[in-house]
Amino acid sequence: MNILDFAQRKRAQEKISMVTCYDYSSARVLEKTDVDTLLVGDSLAMVMHGYDSTVHATIEMMAMHTQAVRRGAPSKFIVGDIPFLSARRGTQAAMDDVASLMRAGANAVKIEGEAGQLDLMSHIVESGVPVMGHLGLTPQSVEAFGGHKVQGKSEGQAAAIIESARRLEQAGCFALVLECIPQVLATSITEQLSIPTIGIGAGPHTDGQVLVFQDMLGMNPDFKPKFLRHYANANEMITSAINHFHDDVQTGAFPSREESYA
Ligand code: KIV
Repeated sequence: MNILDFAQRKRAQEKISMVTCYDYSSARVLEKTDVDTLLVGDSLAMVMHGYDSTVHATIEMMAMHTQAVRRGAPSKFIVGDIPFLSARRGTQAAMDDVASLMRAGANAVKIEGEAGQLDLMSHIVESGVPVMGHLGLTPQSVEAFGGHKVQGKSEGQAAAIIESARRLEQAGCFALVLECIPQVLATSITEQLSIPTIGIGAGPHTDGQVLVFQDMLGMNPDFKPKFLRHYANANEMITSAINHFHDDVQTGAFPSREESYA
């Protein structure tokens, strides 16, 4: 997958799959899968570092995780998230952060929101860096939303999101993440734009879908929002493997003679 394939997929009506990835070991696994693209999302602040929101992701964290993912997945198209307020500190500071992610191995950056940053986004695109947009429930604005809530439910909100989506396309975004919005709204945006939409909690009619790696694998069985499907029960699998190891250590069944040096 390269940047040109995104538009091509939309034209051909072929869906795009994206999963988050934050570390080298997972990237090595994902490198060998069919998944189209990897997102080093700022959700890593929560998933990898245990914070309660994505506002804790810093550019240093984002760059370090992007480097690790690139080392593990040399051939995948990698999108790196521009973290909280990075797009709000003026063009120079924002461009420094874009440079950090691109030098870390990203093929593109993702920026949440639209209002007040269209010029910056155009500038990044004109500088030769592909930009993915992100509308709907943009988690960096969780405090302004009063929590992780579905966005665009009222007519006014929906119209505003559609307008933002149009402006992001005009600014040169090559794709747009739509997070936690009603499926009719996501469908309408998808039909109106010529760039692909990638949904999470946005229904089945977007041009692609994205999920958080650990969430879809069921690492945390208690986290099961409506939009999430568990494709595995990794929590149970890992717990059982570790307990098996523990028992083997207790009984002396591990290591065996074959697993020991003469
Ligand atoms: O950071 C992230 O994981 C994301 C996805 C939810 C789209 O932005």
